Amino acid sequence: MPENQKLRVVVTGASRGLGFEVCRQLAHLGHHVVLTAREQARAERAAASVGARIEAAELDVTSVESIAAFAKRLGPIDALVNNAGISLKGFDSSVVSGTLAVNFFGALHVTQALLPLVSDGGNVVMVSSGMGELSVYSSALRAHFLDEALDVDGLVALVDDFASAVATGRHTERGWPTSAYRVSKAALNALTRIVAAKSPRLHVNAVCPGWVRTDMGGSSALRSLEEGASGIVWAATLGAGEPTGGFFRDRKRIPW
Ligand SMILES: NC(=O)c1ccc[n+]([C@@H]2O[C@H](COP(=O)([O-])OP(=O)(O)OC[C@H]3O[C@@H](n4cnc5c(N)ncnc54)[C@H](OP(=O)(O)O)[C@@H]3O)[C@@H](O)[C@H]2O)c1
Repeated sequence: MPENQKLRVVVTGASRGLGFEVCRQLAHLGHHVVLTAREQARAERAAASVGARIEAAELDVTSVESIAAFAKRLGPIDALVNNAGISLKGFDSSVVSGTLAVNFFGALHVTQALLPLVSDGGNVVMVSSGMGELSVYSSALRAHFLDEALDVDGLVALVDDFASAVATGRHTERGWPTSAYRVSKAALNALTRIVAAKSPRLHVNAVCPGWVRTDMGGSSALRSLEEGASGIVWAATLGAGEPTGGFFRDRKRIPW
């Protein structure tokens, strides 16, 4: 994007935390922000507290109806920030399905619905985590995640394999970690690579914000909201010749 261009940016999961802060920073840079939250009233309340004029819209990333209704009304955009995420306590099949529904399938479905609306040279950002790193997987699974031939169907099958291995109590012997959050972010990173490879007209990157003081990160986290959000804002506003298909923290590449 040319340096002074004002961008129209959609941010998911922006009622609070990093999503809200990303909206605040983008709005104060003069960009047109569409702040989305699961309920319209919460989106409007959050938008009103940004201190700059921004749009508010309802978007529950786990609902295909909500995504379709949002996409229908949206019009052209320059960037999409897939920020909505959850980290549930415990580890069982319901934690796995609930976590994947937001952190992986939510980002997948929102991206599929909104990608045609993103202008050439625009940005798609997946708010990921260092917890998505592949070093904790068996070498076979790591190779599967990193396979350049992996497509969305193959990735969904891989994620489904994790869910069924958990249901039968066999996930560790099959090389999976005991963490739905980790797997959701590893899958989100793989999705980043797949969408980037298929979308040469866009920048598609994953960003780890670091450990940030939000409801999810807790009060002991090392980073302020401002620090955590700034790398996401950077990735949402990249211009011509800037990277795509990468994983970044503090604007620097980190390993998958
Ligand atoms: N904080 C950290 O240390 C840290 C580190 C690495 C990565 N991250 C990632 O950063 C992102 C934001 O995290 P955060 O720390 O800001 O968490 P947070 O304070 O818990 O906020 C999460 C946001 O996601 C929204 N959300 C949850 N389910 C949703 C759904 N189905 N549809 C739409 N929005 C939904 C929440 O909305 P409601 O208010 O409606 O619940 C809330 O706005 C997440 O993807 C997280 O994994 C965070």
